[in-house]
Amino acid sequence: MTLTILGIESSCDDTAAAVLRGSGDAPQILSNAVRSQTDLHAAFGGVVPEIAARAHAEALDLMVEQALTQAEVSLPEINAIAVTAGPGLIGGVLSGVMAAKGLAMGLGKPLIGVNHLAGHALTPRLTDGIEFPYLLLLVSGGHCQFLRVDGPESFTRLGGTIDDAPGEAFDKVARLLGLPQPGGPSVEGAAKNGDPTRFKLPRPLLDRPGCDLSFSGLKTAVLRARDDLVTEKGGMTEQDRSDLCASFQLAVADVLAEKSRRALAEADVTAFAVAGGVAANKTLRARLEGVTDLPFIAPPMALCTDNAAMIAYAGMLAFEVGRTDDMTLKARPRWPLDEAAAPMIGSGKKGAKA
Ligand code: KG4
Ligand code: ZN
Repeated sequence: MTLTILGIESSCDDTAAAVLRGSGDAPQILSNAVRSQTDLHAAFGGVVPEIAARAHAEALDLMVEQALTQAEVSLPEINAIAVTAGPGLIGGVLSGVMAAKGLAMGLGKPLIGVNHLAGHALTPRLTDGIEFPYLLLLVSGGHCQFLRVDGPESFTRLGGTIDDAPGEAFDKVARLLGLPQPGGPSVEGAAKNGDPTRFKLPRPLLDRPGCDLSFSGLKTAVLRARDDLVTEKGGMTEQDRSDLCASFQLAVADVLAEKSRRALAEADVTAFAVAGGVAANKTLRARLEGVTDLPFIAPPMALCTDNAAMIAYAGMLAFEVGRTDDMTLKARPRWPLDEAAAPMIGSGKKGAKA
């Protein structure tokens, strides 16, 4: 059956709406509208929840309208409305859920609450049609976890960060070194001319079994290296900064690659996929690609970072098996994808790490 699903996403700092048509096995993205709030939060060094919630509330109908116009679809043609119901910043998630409920009620259409992480986890199937089961490494400013994806609603969390997410570490390192935000691209840029072997930075948790990760100590090690340079020479040269960025980037890539190797050994899957903003990093991608002979999938950036097409897709798969929600759907700031896994500690600048 051909379905037309409207997806809505507002869990962090992107307000997004998308229209997907087709079936779970043959989905087609008709539109994928995203409005980023990066500029609004730039002066504060992180996402400010109150500003985020207000901006989402203001932008949601505009994004929905834009997505429908681009898709050349009218509201009555929509079969169901899928919305991120968590995890994320409560104000943003609530704005999205309320907007979706309003639309669903006004149109008399089904409503489907989607876990944001399920959206990310199912993206390699949306973009590349890969078969279950596969291993997904989700690496962004707010998330870092290994998920074995067995089916549309079946996920096993094999490990994840016990403190910061890697994107958060890139952003903090950029701040420490006086580089602009978002930190990932600027650290990667500075690292291009750097010597990744100059600073001996730690490889956190590699000495421990399992797939859990930690990035906060790495960031502290960069801070110490910077302070040592300042004490020794009274400041940092451009070359010092590049070498420090390259050394940090390599440490992150080394740790993620080794833990991916372990997760793959444990997971027994047929493909390895990566998603999230940090997946844009070329050093990291090259390292990850090298850890396995299995097919390696890195979806296009627009679908790796937060978007509503992935929410519409997760909603489409749920709708196909008859799962819908009603007006009692709740916004859940914390909502682990694998409810059976032990909860993780810590909550980053972008909200719950789930
Ligand atoms: O997935 P995303 O757009 O948003 C969420 O966090 O949900 O990821 C943004 C994060 C930021 O922390 C940013 O610094 C990081 O991804 N990032 C990168 C690169 N591009 C973006 N990190 C490392 N290298 C990059 N090239
Ligand atoms: Zn996300």
